Amino acid sequence: MPRLYTITPQIWRDDFLCYNTNVNLADLLKNSLDSALLDLIHRIADESSALGFPIYLVGGSVRDLMLARPILDLDLTLEGDAIKLVRALVKKHGGELTTHEKFFTATWTPQSSNSQILDLISTRREIYSAPGSLPTVTKSTLDDDLRRRDFTINAMAIRVDGEHFGELYDPLCGQSDLEKKLIRVLHPKSFLDDPTRIFRALRYAERYGFTIDPESLKLVNDGSRKVLSTLSGERLRHEFDLIFEEPNPSTMLKQLAELDVLKSIRLRITSYELPLLDDPSPAFGEFAVPDMLSFQQTLCWVLWLMNSSVSEIEDVAERLAFPVLLTNAAVFASALKQELPSCKNWKPSQWTFHLDELPSLSVYAVYLVSKENALSEYLSKWQHVKPLTTGDDLKARGLAPGPRYGEILRHLRAAWLDGEVGTEEEERQLLATLVTDR
Ligand code: CTP
Repeated sequence: MPRLYTITPQIWRDDFLCYNTNVNLADLLKNSLDSALLDLIHRIADESSALGFPIYLVGGSVRDLMLARPILDLDLTLEGDAIKLVRALVKKHGGELTTHEKFFTATWTPQSSNSQILDLISTRREIYSAPGSLPTVTKSTLDDDLRRRDFTINAMAIRVDGEHFGELYDPLCGQSDLEKKLIRVLHPKSFLDDPTRIFRALRYAERYGFTIDPESLKLVNDGSRKVLSTLSGERLRHEFDLIFEEPNPSTMLKQLAELDVLKSIRLRITSYELPLLDDPSPAFGEFAVPDMLSFQQTLCWVLWLMNSSVSEIEDVAERLAFPVLLTNAAVFASALKQELPSCKNWKPSQWTFHLDELPSLSVYAVYLVSKENALSEYLSKWQHVKPLTTGDDLKARGLAPGPRYGEILRHLRAAWLDGEVGTEEEERQLLATLVTDR
């Protein structure tokens, strides 16, 4: 169990508001972050302070710090001009600046090659002009910035500049909800504003072993499902992609089905069991994965969809704007899984010529669920078996180029695969019969 930081009594302003700026987490920061990261935060904070901009660690960084989990991304937000701050950082420490003026965001890539890319974000307010639309962003206070967020546990900030280093800002009782292990939205329209938060709630609940607050869960209703159904395929698919980065996606898929979320976005998939991926790294080399997707995400998609029919997969692919590579991998995996029983007595060459036509990732996915030995033999050995003879050798023997070249080379390859030849000499003898055969 992660240890939560000791909570001092909160000062309640009304039913839901509590400010606990009297909590100082300086020691927690110093003890949890490695010295290089801490040093980086100090460098940024000093510059921000010199410009008169209070700067904070926010959102996921604060949540994970309090849960004693590793901090993967530094979420830094300042009450001031992020672009001006990064300009000052580049002037003093070097590195590169990228600006996103419309979003009041700047990226700093510090000079040393192993430094991470840092997003510096100005505190903002977000207004949703219509349910499910992307919000309009305006610069605002820290308080507004925390109130625009998804859940109380993600709506805390720790100030990191100067003498304020370590002060906690928790206007919405995030720390108390962390202690209660609760995922709670900030207001009743949260899922209408952004129904992707339904996916996020399930992810956090599963990842941390938390419960979704019952009142928040009631907000997954016809209204929010209707807005969800209007979201673009790309936006929806991204939420599944994130689920597939978590250790146990099956539970979340099942919950999405139970909440009628899958139905509302027209996904007809009814099986949710994915094998547990102890080691997501491919045991059989590299596999082609679509742009923007990791190997694990691609594999999870294929494992999930391979129990469905081709037409069901094509519906999902269309609804969620799949890249072609992903659709193909899922369709071929589904077909291979179904035909597996009828291939039992195939020779290695039959397997190989058949599997050569499929994406290797489909073969790997079907292997994971079937443990069919021929599939692992194919991936680890058979696919690499080639005859020693080449097209140039056939030409040198005076054979006129044409389809016969392919036939001969295929025949030689099959002979190697099926153990009919095992040495260079045997291949030469077989070749001689094939060439004179014609
Ligand atoms: N956020 C939000 N609503 C969303 C997406 C994000 O309010 N639909 C806010 C949350 O406060 C979140 C922060 O933006 O903490 C950063 O978002 P993201 O990087 O997606 O989440 P993390 O909290 O960093 O969580 P994870 O560990 O899953 O990346």
